[in-house]
Amino acid sequence: TARCAKALQLTLAVIKPDAVAHPLILEALHQKILENKFIIVKSKEIVWQRRDSERFYAEHKGRFFYQRLVEFMSSGPMWAYILAREEAVSHWRALMGPTKVFRARYVAPGSIRAGFGLTDTRNTTHGSDSEDSARREIAFFFPEFSVAEWMESAEPAFR
Ligand code: TYD
Ligand code: MG
Repeated sequence: TARCAKALQLTLAVIKPDAVAHPLILEALHQKILENKFIIVKSKEIVWQRRDSERFYAEHKGRFFYQRLVEFMSSGPMWAYILAREEAVSHWRALMGPTKVFRARYVAPGSIRAGFGLTDTRNTTHGSDSEDSARREIAFFFPEFSVAEWMESAEPAFR
């Protein structure tokens, strides 16, 4: 019988350049990940070229914020994580809070973006918005990683 009430899930979390630039914020976010019972499956520091930003955020091409988003995401080092826990996707999204920082402060004052976000663009973290995006985004950041293989070897430990 299952020990996890809900299914074990992976998500992709990214600490964006605004937060990585401040060691204390980076440390606070790392602690938050651990406090919230996520398992860090993989993590790495990464610097994007402009073309990486453009590819990752292709769905937003043409939006008013696209240029500054692409520029910001290639402006300095980031930390990327594959996180595991039950309901990982929605848990990490909830911890981050809404996209827009002023909205985050209003509706989710304890959230990461409310606490650390500087602007709607420099909003501290990324999180996959569905299991499908998580699969796609994990492959984007960690092309050598196999979700299926990891699930097969790890899941018995959660049952
Ligand atoms: P989006 O996928 O809508 O938000 P989320 O990161 O919460 O999934 O947008 C992607 C990123 O684009 C967002 O994290 C920051 C940037 N962005 C802006 O700069 N201004 C905006 O008004 C929006 C909606 C997004
Ligand atoms: Mg999104």
